[in-house]
Amino acid sequence: MLSARDRLCDNAIKYLVTLQSARQIQLGAAALVGGFEPRRLAAAEADRDFVLDWARGVDGLILDVGCGPGHWTKYLADDGLLVEGVDPAPEFISSALEQYPGLRFQVGEAAHLPVGDASLGGVLSWYSLIHVEPAQIGATLTDLARCVRADGGLALAFFEGPELTPFDHAVAPAYFWPIDLLATHVEQAGFVVTDTRTRSDPGARRHGAITARRISAGRDLAPPRRHID
Ligand SMILES: C[S@@+](CC[C@H](N)C(=O)[O-])C[C@H]1O[C@@H](n2cnc3c(N)ncnc32)[C@H](O)[C@@H]1O
Repeated sequence: MLSARDRLCDNAIKYLVTLQSARQIQLGAAALVGGFEPRRLAAAEADRDFVLDWARGVDGLILDVGCGPGHWTKYLADDGLLVEGVDPAPEFISSALEQYPGLRFQVGEAAHLPVGDASLGGVLSWYSLIHVEPAQIGATLTDLARCVRADGGLALAFFEGPELTPFDHAVAPAYFWPIDLLATHVEQAGFVVTDTRTRSDPGARRHGAITARRISAGRDLAPPRRHID
């Protein structure tokens, strides 16, 4: 039995695979985005608290990268935070704009974000880099770093595992990442990792999260890393 998060991921992957193979959007948007329950944030309470706590510490605009139908964007905006969403799937962006008309969303993907250099206070990438080919993860994180100002923040969530392995997630692969390996890529892209954490919830794939701060000219502006399991 799949958890709410895994069902959500299945829907995203099915949608992306369709986009990639057909290169056009001829799909029933309502059926696709309906699986995301756009009015309800189906994340674990621990994740909601974690993301909110992280976001409240960000100074400036937060970009919710891989926002899907915009539920995290909405959640943070409801707390009074400055946040916008980006997703490569136009149907999700259409849904987000319809559901949350006061908020800003645009089509875009993590490796080529449609924003200027150092224009963001932080990037939230919650279970969106799971679909990036491992060979592209360095370039993708480097573009995230390009967009975040010095001392700005990054928060990632992903499926954690002992080895970097694809798994058959509905139709297309996603990847389990060892947390230390992904943290190394994050640092090589120009961040200092401040916090890593893992969690095993019954019936769900193992959760991993990394937060980091953007460095500038080799200056380490972050406190030492801590790990919570
Ligand atoms: C599993 S869903 C997560 C949605 C939302 N962030 C959440 O946590 O509920 C993955 C999302 O990542 C998006 N995505 C996939 N590849 C991406 C990429 N290269 N850059 C940005 N977003 C991507 C998908 O379109 C989808 O909305």
